Amino acid sequence: MQLHPVAAVEKRSMQSGSEIIVIGGGVIGLATALELRLLGAAVTILGKDFNAAAGHAAAGMLAPQAERIPTGAMWDLCLASRDLYPEWIAKIESISGIAAGYWRCGILAPYYQAQTGIDWLDDRSIHHHQSGLSETVVGGYYYPAEGQVDNRALMRSLLAASQSLGIEFLDGVEVTNIEIDRGRVTHLATSQGDISAQHYILATGAWSQQLLPIPVVPRKGQMLSVLVPIEQQEHLPLQQVLFGEEIYIVPRQDGRIMIGATSEDVGFAPANTLKGVKQLMTNAMRLFPPLQQFPLLETWWGFRPATPDELPILGTSPATNLTLVTGHYRNGILLTPITAKLIADLVWHQQADNLLSAFNWQRFDPV
Ligand code: FAD
Ligand code: GLY
Repeated sequence: MQLHPVAAVEKRSMQSGSEIIVIGGGVIGLATALELRLLGAAVTILGKDFNAAAGHAAAGMLAPQAERIPTGAMWDLCLASRDLYPEWIAKIESISGIAAGYWRCGILAPYYQAQTGIDWLDDRSIHHHQSGLSETVVGGYYYPAEGQVDNRALMRSLLAASQSLGIEFLDGVEVTNIEIDRGRVTHLATSQGDISAQHYILATGAWSQQLLPIPVVPRKGQMLSVLVPIEQQEHLPLQQVLFGEEIYIVPRQDGRIMIGATSEDVGFAPANTLKGVKQLMTNAMRLFPPLQQFPLLETWWGFRPATPDELPILGTSPATNLTLVTGHYRNGILLTPITAKLIADLVWHQQADNLLSAFNWQRFDPV
């Protein structure tokens, strides 16, 4: 553990009846606010649009191996978060009374071309492991420690937990400017007037660059869902995630199946497109042909917060009383527990865990 010199300046005021404003009430903002509240902070969340958060749009996979995160700081962060998940979910659920659908169901990654490696499952093994796969699947990998959470249920659970602990969530309030004077945030300009606090946390996901010159851009993802036909619901045909080439298929325990996702560099262009939906349907039916007969439930889209190196931006900022928590890109649901814990410790106890050091904003601003 290191004591961060800038954050330490804030210590005295923070512990004497402090006020913290979290800008952005997505999965990261809510979870961070909750962790701070549990440490004793008085927290307000300002959210432009709860329903627009990528936290609702995601598939909810907890999948550092399937996502092929390379070893290094990000891998360590992802594994630390995956390890925290069962206990963290139990905590949120016990506060909120709302189940979040955490399921360590394992992830199977089928391939159409043979790969190498000691963990490679050959043709026979993979089809034995999962019936119904395309006959053109020649093998794959199995990741038993990976799984999923029902991210929409998690959002509901986090919201209810924060409300029950007395966190003020002002949804529909857009922060339009962060006023900084001599290295400190003085106040926020918002759609409802100015507001100030002792400390501020930026958790605005894909929209972060609208408030600060940090390189976070939207990467659109389109999704759709289908429902397992009623007569097959007693024995669900999928009991694990399929993470294929350009497609993933995530079965929920209630019979819904999430299918995603496109990855599009189109700014904040809204809506599902025929091209996007066709790509999802084609790739999903190719990988798991039984889907052809499953009724379509819903289509939606969301915006991943992407950075140039695809790593989050976590920790201190150019302003002493502003902490950055953004840029989680494809793994924000996975990274929520560890992010919330490390950022709450940083802001409240001035403890900067070594895990944070690779994710500072300064990597984009070398002096
Ligand atoms: P968001 O959840 O987007 O929340 C940001 C919030 O800030 C929004 O509600 C927004 O309205 C608010 N806001 C923005 N600007 C302002 C402002 N000026 N003032 C006030 N409020 C503001 N991750 C995984 O781990 N596993 C997955 O399987 C997975 N699948 C995904 C699939 C798709 C299609 C997408 C789009 C994402 C997926 N992700 C997944 C990524 C994950 O959803 C994101 O990394 C995560 O939601 C980011 O959380 P966040 O809180 O930073 O941003
Ligand atoms: N992690 C899955 C996605 O971002 O699409």
